[in-house]
Amino acid sequence: MSAAKQERTTSATNLPQEKYDELGAYIQSLETKEGALIHVLHRAQTVFTYLPLEVQLFIARQMDLPAAEVFGVVSFYSYFTTKPVGKHTVSVCMGTACFVRGSEEVYKAFKEELGIQPGEISPDGLFSIKDVRCIGACGLAPVVTVGEKVYGHVKPEDVKTILDEYRADHVLENLN
Ligand code: FES
Repeated sequence: MSAAKQERTTSATNLPQEKYDELGAYIQSLETKEGALIHVLHRAQTVFTYLPLEVQLFIARQMDLPAAEVFGVVSFYSYFTTKPVGKHTVSVCMGTACFVRGSEEVYKAFKEELGIQPGEISPDGLFSIKDVRCIGACGLAPVVTVGEKVYGHVKPEDVKTILDEYRADHVLENLN
């Protein structure tokens, strides 16, 4: 891809150059690029919070891979998202064990408390929400994750307390 084309795709969503630099440095630091695509996509999603087309193209170029291979992996794994998300993603497990222990009510409570549906971002920009399949922690059902943190035996009445942790952190970060 030409530099001009790269410039156009990069500026399409105004993603900061520092983030591209950070991801590029990570890719260059890899001992080998072979078999590293999943790790790179994971890192990219951490850096950018989502994987728009231009980030996928950037990765393809940096890893010397066909763009179609990168697109294919991103679309195969539900973990990866190509749409902007809030700072924290709330994932409610809808696997069988969680479902029979009331995860549907928990999911509903999160949507109501946040005032959003899957694919949307809360007005404060802090949260997105989605349902997921079994995450392998059935003993803790119903299970919810916020980012990497796992919450077990969640009840609808716990929802506000969980979200308030992150809201409070956000307020503190803005004070510092
Ligand atoms: S069904 Fe929810 S963690 Fe397994």
